[in-house]
Amino acid sequence: MPVIDIHSHNVPCGWPDLQTETGGDGPWPWLRVTSEREAMIMIGDQEFRAIDDRCWNASARLADMDADGVDMQVVSPTPVFFSYHRSVAESSRIAAIFNDLAAQMCAEAPDRLVPFCQVPLADPEAACRELDRCLANGHAGVEIGNHVGDRDLDDPGVVEFLQHCASVGAPVFVHPWDMPTTPRTSRWMAQWLIGMPAETHLSVLAMILGGVFDQVSSDLRICFAHGGGSFAMWLGRTENAWHQRPDLVGVSELPPSAYLDRFSVDSVVFDEPALRLLVETMGVERVMMGSDFPYPLGERPAGSVVRGSTFLSDVDKQAILGQNAMRWLNAPAGTARMISTATGSPQEAQV
Ligand code: CO
Repeated sequence: MPVIDIHSHNVPCGWPDLQTETGGDGPWPWLRVTSEREAMIMIGDQEFRAIDDRCWNASARLADMDADGVDMQVVSPTPVFFSYHRSVAESSRIAAIFNDLAAQMCAEAPDRLVPFCQVPLADPEAACRELDRCLANGHAGVEIGNHVGDRDLDDPGVVEFLQHCASVGAPVFVHPWDMPTTPRTSRWMAQWLIGMPAETHLSVLAMILGGVFDQVSSDLRICFAHGGGSFAMWLGRTENAWHQRPDLVGVSELPPSAYLDRFSVDSVVFDEPALRLLVETMGVERVMMGSDFPYPLGERPAGSVVRGSTFLSDVDKQAILGQNAMRWLNAPAGTARMISTATGSPQEAQV
């Protein structure tokens, strides 16, 4: 069974000038390349994030994957490029540019780098069109931001898109982004440490309490980043509220715990007690190894908490490290053998 990391990101090494491409007003993201291996993502004249060539260079990624014992990565966009606040024409053009560049990088190692696309989620018709174009172009699924402005995942347009994903069999990876900015959350990386888990928690609740799982086909294969944020920790509180205050909470047909088999979470929670809570809450078949590669708040070596955990059997570890992801990706039979041939690794994962 191959080891699959379902949470990693890319950034292309430059892209066409977005002002010229779209005709829209800035500020626009651009890349200030500072050396052969380093660059700075810029938003207008503001520095956003320093990155290195593992964001755009397939060989550099493969070297780290080999070091970590990872056979395959799902490669998703970096959320700052989602551009949901832009016009449909602008966000569609931006999505196409970044999707095609990601597909080019992944095509250098098609057995090991699996691209997920981004879509102009504010407009369901345009989002479905870009997803279909990308699926035909080699992408295996889609990453979406966890909200579109003030619209959460129970927004009718987003639900329409999710239903389309279910009908065409595209797995969906939900990533937090665009966290609220206040002076109180601008310190200590609080937007990442508190804002991101809270955003993801809110998205899971939108799917459950907003009745999305009641509306969307159970064919939908959807996974939430960062262990589902703070959801697992507070499932009991949500469950209690659903029973005690149905006047305020009870939009869903069933109590929250009845929907746990409708989604997955990744494993990037960094310590064993948190992983144990996730596995006990979601079930071992609903947790998939993710690392957030190549960013500093990611786990290296990828999957190390899963591999080193004392409460998981070898069978459980194989499920989390790859088997569950094979099912989520709907990887065709024979993929495991193909990956093993590409990596030269034995077919059984080294857990
Ligand atoms: Co991430």
